[in-house]
Amino acid sequence: MIIILFGPPGAGKGTQAQFLVNNFKFLQVSTGDLLRLEIDNNTEYGSQISNLIDKGKLVSDELMNNILDAYLSKLVENKNIIFDGYPRNLYQAKNFPKLLAKYNLTLNKVFFLNVDRELIRKRISGRVICSKCKKIFNKDIKDHEYNNHKCGEDFLVKRKDDSDETILKRYDLYIKDTSQLIDFYKSHKGFCEIDGNMEITQINEQIKGFLNV
Ligand code: AP5
Ligand code: MG
Repeated sequence: MIIILFGPPGAGKGTQAQFLVNNFKFLQVSTGDLLRLEIDNNTEYGSQISNLIDKGKLVSDELMNNILDAYLSKLVENKNIIFDGYPRNLYQAKNFPKLLAKYNLTLNKVFFLNVDRELIRKRISGRVICSKCKKIFNKDIKDHEYNNHKCGEDFLVKRKDDSDETILKRYDLYIKDTSQLIDFYKSHKGFCEIDGNMEITQINEQIKGFLNV
């Protein structure tokens, strides 16, 4: 089962991917995480990527494709993948079937998480990520997952691109580029639009329903 999760920054793509990974043995492929790994590992593209992400801009399609392709080539027999953050524009959407075909994969479901702009600001300003287990939380929500987090609060950090200024740039870019994806995928038989303004657990249930799991 190959799934795409797309939607604006802070829509909950990572949160929902986390749910599917923990409960249904999916593998999450987050292009944002792959890029942050390049930065952390100081690879030859690390500083270029860091500059772009910090400004809320997209990495070039060619570089993104090469990094994603290299990652997929190392995967051993995983047929249940959630793509979180890719494709992100029309070019990537058109390229995606070719990339999947290279690894004998085909797209089954496309989940579009639609969320209001004001909620996004609020969610991103409260977002913290555990630097140890990589889980995503929200310091303003402190839900069941937050209260059961074992690593401790000392490991909770904010993402560098989560400043007020960058959030809006990322959102505006999403409106300009990523919204074209809706038109592109609307006719796909696996397309599902989800009201991402709902609570995390309600969205979990909707996704479960669409996946029939
Ligand atoms: P990426 O890391 O993908 O960032 P993004 O798309 O901006 O999305 P986020 O990760 O910020 O949000 P999310 O939807 O995952 O929300 P989350 O679950 O964390 O990309 C970063 C950068 O990398 C891009 O800006 C770009 O530069 C580059 N990049 C990445 N992919 C690329 C590509 N394909 N091509 C080119 N460049 C690329 O949730 C957010 C917060 O809200 C959390 O605190 C969470 O607890 C809370 N929350 C989640 N759901 C709910 C809910 N339903 N109710 C209440 N709170 C909720
Ligand atoms: Mg994310």
